[in-house]
Amino acid sequence: MRIVYFSADQDADQWLPGLRAALPGAEVSLWTQGTAPADYAVVWKPLQQLLDEQPHLKALFNTGAGVDALMALNLSAGVPVIRLDDAGMAVQMAEYVCHALIRHFREFDAYEADTRAGQWTYRKPRSRADFPVGILGLGVLGERVARAVAQFDFPVNGWSRSPKDVPGVQCYSGLERLPDFLAATRVLVCLLPLTRDTQDIMNQENLSRLQSGAYVINVARGAHLVDEDLLALLDSGHLAGATLDVFRTEPLPAEHPFWKHPKVTVTPHTSARTLRSESIAQIAGKIVALERGEMVAGRVELGRGY
Ligand code: NAP
Ligand code: GLV
Repeated sequence: MRIVYFSADQDADQWLPGLRAALPGAEVSLWTQGTAPADYAVVWKPLQQLLDEQPHLKALFNTGAGVDALMALNLSAGVPVIRLDDAGMAVQMAEYVCHALIRHFREFDAYEADTRAGQWTYRKPRSRADFPVGILGLGVLGERVARAVAQFDFPVNGWSRSPKDVPGVQCYSGLERLPDFLAATRVLVCLLPLTRDTQDIMNQENLSRLQSGAYVINVARGAHLVDEDLLALLDSGHLAGATLDVFRTEPLPAEHPFWKHPKVTVTPHTSARTLRSESIAQIAGKIVALERGEMVAGRVELGRGY
């Protein structure tokens, strides 16, 4: 069996030994122009040329959860695309979102500023009932985040394409229920895949539907958010703040207003990192399963884009 690896992050020196150790019978190599046809490709943000030169793969593995970079390429319709299915990302996402939520809810930034100034001050405790959290996307990551947030007794809403039943979560589905979901939400968390249907979803119209003093946490993709609309609503006071991990252009350009905005916290696309050993174990396990003719989780539906 032949496997090719390619990543725009140029980290093959770390992935190739891991893949070889996990699949000792396989010939694993870095993809470069003209590499011989392989059975499987393991990729992150590959070049179109790789796909053109490898049209008969048994499967194309994406070393992340989001496949938007792949969807922007011309994929062979017959080649299954398989994305990472948690592989250690869900718990990271849960801790990141809970951290951002609790930091905002408990006003820890304000306490830190006070104590740094040598001031022993108290703020009036806030009620969790006044901070319903709404999660856009109840998939592998969104559902894990919803359950984690519910553990802290916040009211939790979730929105997905198909109807769901998640204990402790008020579930909404479909575009027609989006306005009700937003109106019931004060802290909005985006965990949608980036598709034609979800691009720009956090725009002026939808963000205005959130409860007054709302807070936005974007951990999905930068293009879900219309930056100018967020800034205008922060400046008008309708939104209290935002924690943003993902951006339309990454790294975030030095001149972008998010860097210095007092109500915006920026992190460098780090909320849920691909963990190499967990990911290699998952991909290797799926290759073995596919070779046995079994079904595997995480297969992308190309028609819907995730
Ligand atoms: P997933 O399992 O595919 O879940 C996607 C969820 O979004 C599903 O609940 C799906 O609804 C819902 N959805 C998709 N299109 C929708 C639409 N048009 N309307 C309503 N709901 C819609 O994906 P995941 O593994 O949770 O990952 C989510 C995203 O997180 C990834 O695509 C990636 O962009 C991002 N991510 C970011 C980081 C980071 O470090 N910042 C790390 C990993 C992932 P159904 O359940 O009905 O299909
Ligand atoms: C990271 O952003 C991923 O999609 O895994």
